[in-house]
Order: sequence, then structure tokens, then C-alpha cells
Amino acid sequence: MATTEIKIAPEDVASAAGAHERIPEPGVVVIFGASGDLTKRKLLPALFHLEQQGLLPEKIRIVGVARRDLGDSFAKDMRAGILEFGGVKEDDEKLEGFVDKVSYHAMNFDDDGGYEALKEKLAGYDKELGTKNRLFYLAVAPEYFSDIVDHLGKHGMAKSDEGAVRVIIEKPFGHDLESAKALNADISKVFAEEQIFRIDHYLGKETVQNVLVFRFANGIFEPVWNRNYIDNVQITAAESIGIEGRGPFYEKAGATRDILQNHLMEVLSFVAMEPPVSFESDAVRQEKLKVWKAIRPIKEENTVRGQYGPGTVGGKEAIGYRQEDRVSPESQTETFAAVKLEIDNWRWAGVPIYIRAGKRLAKRVTEVTIQFKQPPMRLFDKATSGPCGEVQPNLITMRIQPDEGISLRFGAKLPSPDMTVCPVVMDFKYAQAFGANTANGYERLLLDAMLGDGTLFAHRDGVEVTWELFTPLLEAWTKTKLDFPNYDSGTWGPKASDELLARDGRKWQKL
Ligand code: BG6
Repeated sequence: MATTEIKIAPEDVASAAGAHERIPEPGVVVIFGASGDLTKRKLLPALFHLEQQGLLPEKIRIVGVARRDLGDSFAKDMRAGILEFGGVKEDDEKLEGFVDKVSYHAMNFDDDGGYEALKEKLAGYDKELGTKNRLFYLAVAPEYFSDIVDHLGKHGMAKSDEGAVRVIIEKPFGHDLESAKALNADISKVFAEEQIFRIDHYLGKETVQNVLVFRFANGIFEPVWNRNYIDNVQITAAESIGIEGRGPFYEKAGATRDILQNHLMEVLSFVAMEPPVSFESDAVRQEKLKVWKAIRPIKEENTVRGQYGPGTVGGKEAIGYRQEDRVSPESQTETFAAVKLEIDNWRWAGVPIYIRAGKRLAKRVTEVTIQFKQPPMRLFDKATSGPCGEVQPNLITMRIQPDEGISLRFGAKLPSPDMTVCPVVMDFKYAQAFGANTANGYERLLLDAMLGDGTLFAHRDGVEVTWELFTPLLEAWTKTKLDFPNYDSGTWGPKASDELLARDGRKWQKL
């Protein structure tokens, strides 16, 4: 059933972006680890999208920093990345002017001379253009975070009387509670908390931000958004890809550290939090924290670990995890995790929240489903024998990606002389209502960081609370060795994942 009444013309969507009244002050964006994939695939395309929308200051410079000596090839490579990954046309009138603002600085991250030379380069821009603000983006492996931050402090680059200095840190923020605390302590020696922007790219996704809009900008959902009406909540982040050559990283991470502790906890906080008093960073952060703090310690029996073996994904043969490059043939790393959470507060007590994430699953899909309780009296139960089977509960599905949108399932009378009930779906699709969107989520986050708005970023206390939740589980898991692999590539994970819900008389929603 197509129900989207409103179609917004692409030019109106673009002008809404342009209506954003705040444009950052002139400054320099310095990306450490700029030779990595993230810079070319996500960061530069996102910065260029901001430029296209007129959201960047005219006086801006972007400096890539990495060890390799790339010279002029860096800007050319970034230009190619903008075209390939940003959906940008070669003849875009703003492209050449933007690429001219991109430069490269080769240095080792522990080389004092390199930092001095960088400082001088930035001072040169300041003199020429008045670019007093700094945004340092640490797109590097986590073992370099503390070192780079320490050097920035030592060379007087972390504070300025003339402009704002901010630092963006990519995940992972630590490996467990202890390492997260140590990392936070190291960074806070140099930067104040309001200068630190811990990025979780899920918060940059329009569909994740829309969870808050859906709940708090509409009057009809919030009254039923609680334990009186909701039977269970499910959040799935399924990927069909494997680990894409990231063996050494993934061996140490696993699905829980890679996705559950951060991306899924962020999504859950938006689904479950109380309405904040405003959309200010502090107000939102306090409400998110309350959700995480109300989650009961996770019991191991409420969790499932899996690891993919060989199989077929999208018609193609796929190797098992243990056969991947630089992965131990006896690896105990989980590529799938499912956890049942319980939130002890007035809104959610007794409503199970099932979350799961996995690699090499049947398809790529990230969704939140809210399953409502059945009506108190089943007036039309004889429909069990009809063509649509048992009467289905109402369901709100928020499709985070792909095919972004929201749907509502309800029962409708099948045209027939009988009272047969069939499930039908009202569907809102982003692409249909607002046109195709080339944004990758980093646009909003980069812009917010340049403006000093931390609402859509992870904060120190939140990172530590979520690690507090998962660290005991991760430790408990190390005590038992599982007979991996326990699911075939291209399936929905181990059988135990279905059993986790079956024990409660429930099922994962079909995705
Ligand atoms: C990253 C993980 O944070 O998120 C990757 O490290 C994962 O393993 C990726 O593939 C998923 O992001 P998205 O935006 O494709 O859902």
C-alpha cells in the first residue's frame, strides 16, 4: 500500500540544507591517517557535499596527514574519491575550487619535527586567510590516538586563544572498560571534553536521527511507546559482507565490540529514551545515559555468539571466517552476536529488547522493529484458518538502511463474505518522498563538529557506561570455547539465535 502523500522536489530538499543558518568560522581540517580508505570514501565526499550546499566557509583548508610521501597525488586521489564515492559529476562547478583547498603533509605520528612543520604550515594559512579554527580528525588505528593527542598538546596545537580547536576521534574508543577509561584519561589531559568529538557514524544517518523525529515530532506514537502496548523491540544490523581484509582488526574486535557496544547502543538509546527537554547536547546526552544505566547486567544465557563458515551469499561462494586473510584457523572471534536486553524503568520494564549484528548474513539490512501487543480480545481469531493465518500483531518497522523508510503493519479485512483478517503495510520511503540522497552521514557530523555541537556524538560517560555493560560479558565468553563455525555464510546466524527468542515464545521478524 503506497501512502506517501507528500513529495518534496529535490531542489527544495537542497534549499532546506542551504537554509541551515550557521556556517563554521574559517578554519583548517586536519585529517590524520588520510591515506586510509575512510578519507577518500567518506570524509572528502562529505566535505564536498557540504561545499556544494554552501555550508563550508569560503576560507577553509583541508590537510591530509599520513606517513607515506604522497606529494601532489593526494589531492588528485581525493578528487577521484569525491567523484566515485560522492556521486559527484566531473563538471561540477565547485569541484576544482574545492580540490585546490586540499593539501598533504607527510610525517610520522611520533615525529616532533613533523608536528612543528605542520604547525608552521597551518600558521601560514592563518596569516594568508585568517583560518584560526582547527578540526583535527583522527582517522587512524586506535593505538595512535593517545600518541597523536599527546603530541598535539606538546606542540601547543590543542589550545588557541584565537579560535576553537576540536578533535574528532573515530571508533573504537577502547577495547573494554579499562582501556576506554585509560584512553579517555589520556585525551582529557590535553583536550577539554567540549573539544572532543567521538564519532559514531550511525548517528550521522538520517534514518537514525529520524527515530527521534518520529517519536517526538508526532503526537500519535509516543502515547503507545511503552510497556503497556509494546510486546518487544528488535534491532538488527545485518551485513552480507565478510571482514573485507580487516583480519587483524576484526580478530581483536568481533561483532560485539564492532557494532553492539557502539552503533546498536546508540540506536537503542534513541528508541528507548525519554523526551529530552531540548535538542541541546547535554539534554540529549543525559537521557541517553539514563537508558544505558537502566539496562540490567547482561546474563550470558541471554546471549548468542556465532562465527561464519563457508557458504553462498548473493549467489556467490564465500569462504569461512577462519579462512580469511590473517585470521587464526582456530579463531574464537564472534562474527555474529545476539543479546536480549532488559531495561529496568517505568517505560520498558518487562519488554525484552533483542539486538543482533553479524557479518556474512543473508542480506544487508539494518532495522528497528517495534512489535505491539495483540488486542485484549481476539474477536477475529477464526481467521487462523483463513488464507493469511493467525491475526498478526501491529508492527512499526524503521528501516535504517538500505531502502530507508518506515512502515506500519496492521490487520485489514480481506474482501470476502467472511471476517478474515490479513496483514497489510503502510509504507513511507525516503527516496520516494525526498528523492535520492547522496549524503553518507559524515556531512552532518563534520559540520556539527566544526560548529562545536556535540549532540550527535558519543561522550565520555556514555562510552564508559556501555563498556561497563558489555565488558563482563566479553570476559565471560573467553572462558568457554565454542565449536566454531556455527553458521553458514548467507544465513541468518546460528540456530541458537532463533532459540533465544523461541524460549520467550517469540521470533525474529523476517527481514
Ligand atoms: C563499522 C564497522 O563501524 O561499521 C564495520 O567497523 C561495519 O565492520 C560498518 O561494516 C557498518 O557500517 P554501515 O554504515 O555500512 O552500516
